[in-house]
Amino acid sequence: MNQSGLHLAIIMDGNGRWAEQRGLPRPAGHRAGARAVRAVVEAAPALGIGTLTLYAFSADNWRRPPREVAALMGLLRRFAIQEAQVLAKADVRLSFIGRRDRLPGPMLEAMAKSEALTATGRSLHLRVAVDYSARDALLHAARHLAQAPAATREGFGALLGSPDVDLLVRTGGDQRLSDFLLWECAYAELMFLPVAWPDFGPADLAACVGDFRARDRRFGGLTAPAPASAR
Ligand code: FPP
Repeated sequence: MNQSGLHLAIIMDGNGRWAEQRGLPRPAGHRAGARAVRAVVEAAPALGIGTLTLYAFSADNWRRPPREVAALMGLLRRFAIQEAQVLAKADVRLSFIGRRDRLPGPMLEAMAKSEALTATGRSLHLRVAVDYSARDALLHAARHLAQAPAATREGFGALLGSPDVDLLVRTGGDQRLSDFLLWECAYAELMFLPVAWPDFGPADLAACVGDFRARDRRFGGLTAPAPASAR
């Protein structure tokens, strides 16, 4: 499978509660969450997932205690450094979405290096959202739109830089979008699971994709649209 496959977006929620239930500090939940990320990334291509977008740190997460923010930044930086080689070997492209003007220097450096090292990956495009807000992304794109008044939906989508999401999964039991990929999720299938992110594994991923494939997507019409190649 390749990047023309399914676009799956995941809101990885429940790390903190997972840790607290075990009497552990919250960052231990995020570390367990990073292990779940590795397993899901490994399993994704065989399930027909071409693009996987993970919500790792929202623009509103800066409001968390400084210790937790620092732990998350450290974890994401280590992930970028340590996983880049593994991802490159597995033919996975890693890139980051979100603002880059508020991140610590070492984080930015690790992001740029891992993106360069994995740039040719074709089996999966793994996109990690850091300091991300869909509303900010929309505002940013709208400012550019002012210079191109004849813009189309496709053109605006291209300004946002994200493909449409086919399936959005949120773990952790809450049922909201939390400012994630709001434009791109216009016709996404939504799945809200009670499982905490660190407990989400390849079997859960396969079940989600199976459920998705059984859904009837009509995009406002009465039948599913024909594939682009047949139109
Ligand atoms: C939400 O759970 C999760 C986050 C804010 C962080 C997600 C980050 C990871 C899984 C770390 C690793 C990521 C990558 C890409 C390596 P929460 O802390 O809000 O949980 P709670 O709702 O139980 O408090």
